[in-house]
Amino acid sequence: MMNDEVRIDPWGSSQSTDYSRIIDQFGLQSMDGLEVPNPSKLHRRGIIFAHRELDMILEAKRTGNPFGVLTGLMPSGMMHLGHSMVIDQVRWFQQQGGDVTIAVADLESTATRGISLAEGRKIAAEQYVVNYAALGLDPDLTTVYFQSQRSVVQRLGFQLGKRTNLSEFESIYGFDGSTTLAHVQAPLVQAGDILHPQLDEYGGLRPIVVPVGVDQDPHLRLTRGLAAKTNWFNVKPAKMGLQVGVSVQDENAHALGVEANGRVNKEKQKQIFDQIVSAISGIGFSDIISNPKHGTVNIPSATGRDKGAVQMALLRLERKLGGMGLLAPSSTYHRFAIGMTGDKMSSSKPKTTLFLCDDISTVEKKIKKSFSGGQSTVEEHRRLGGNPDIDVAFQYMMYFFEEDDAYLAELNQGYRAGNILAGEMKQLCIDRASEWMQNLKEKRDETAHLVEEFFE
Ligand code: TRP
Repeated sequence: MMNDEVRIDPWGSSQSTDYSRIIDQFGLQSMDGLEVPNPSKLHRRGIIFAHRELDMILEAKRTGNPFGVLTGLMPSGMMHLGHSMVIDQVRWFQQQGGDVTIAVADLESTATRGISLAEGRKIAAEQYVVNYAALGLDPDLTTVYFQSQRSVVQRLGFQLGKRTNLSEFESIYGFDGSTTLAHVQAPLVQAGDILHPQLDEYGGLRPIVVPVGVDQDPHLRLTRGLAAKTNWFNVKPAKMGLQVGVSVQDENAHALGVEANGRVNKEKQKQIFDQIVSAISGIGFSDIISNPKHGTVNIPSATGRDKGAVQMALLRLERKLGGMGLLAPSSTYHRFAIGMTGDKMSSSKPKTTLFLCDDISTVEKKIKKSFSGGQSTVEEHRRLGGNPDIDVAFQYMMYFFEEDDAYLAELNQGYRAGNILAGEMKQLCIDRASEWMQNLKEKRDETAHLVEEFFE
């Protein structure tokens, strides 16, 4: 690996925050230039910084078509502020009309964290789902399930395992000869998590978005690749418009008219290509050039914006013909808030974060001791100003506690100008945080009776 390459380890304890390099290296799309209607504070503040094909979701919303949201939690410790960011993203998608499914990664937790399945279940209910209810997820529109209990998730992971191998896992995750096979299975189960909501018994074909922290992107890269490898029809830009390529594989050769001896059944092939053309004309295209010999169909008048619609039409056809018809997931990524000590936030280091169940006096203590972007003396601070970009108190108001953008901008300027002192910033944060935590606690009490309703 070249030195300047970032490796993202979803299970690691360190985390690169070089977001522009991550975007470049892994081919994420920046959020700049994407118009998000009704943006949440995480969007407005650039905290959600990148995505993969979020356009598919926005387009579904715009045209009134269904879309789903799937994310997961690793039940290994107490829920803290960092975890709440994914839920903020989920709630936003839910408000935009998405149906929500949340995986409790009890298999992953047992494989990689040594948490028993029983413990995982207890943690999920008592730490996470109580807070999901309090944070405003709607139990009627949210399903929480356990990986160990949805056999279809495991089956899908197993089937997709045929489309990858140890070399790919080595290069994506850095696995080696000492990696346990349970750990090797975890990403496949996660691929099953991500793709299964599209199956007919879980809502059928529709775009699914996976909101996560960027540490989870390796799983999305894997899953998108796996889905693409199963696809019978691929859509890509051509010199003119879009081109559909037919992908003949062991699994579909017969259905596509290719006999075991490699001979092509012309009649069957023609039928397939006619069906492709009719699927595409069904969504409004007329000049379609079918070329069975080359295994392609061209749509010269289509543009990049039509790609999603063409893909969906062909996935429906694939399903009719007996294929899985899996659409690659979309995703969105949030930045990580700095830990309260200035290092990475981590549930195994209580001083680095606020747990959602911390009491008010703990909150106050942690913020008082938190890493500051102020100068070491008042005189210097007045003269040079503070740095809100590294100041935990300011950052936490921006990430978590303060809704008002204009007020936040005032604080930012005031701090930089040296008008607001570090201690004052901390006090402002303590006030907001206490109110927020108190409110969450009250909500937890009010919604405790709903927790059961989240589970399938
Ligand atoms: N691996 C995730 C974590 O460590 C948990 C998870 C399991 C997940 N399945 C998922 C996240 C599907 C997103 C989508 O937190």
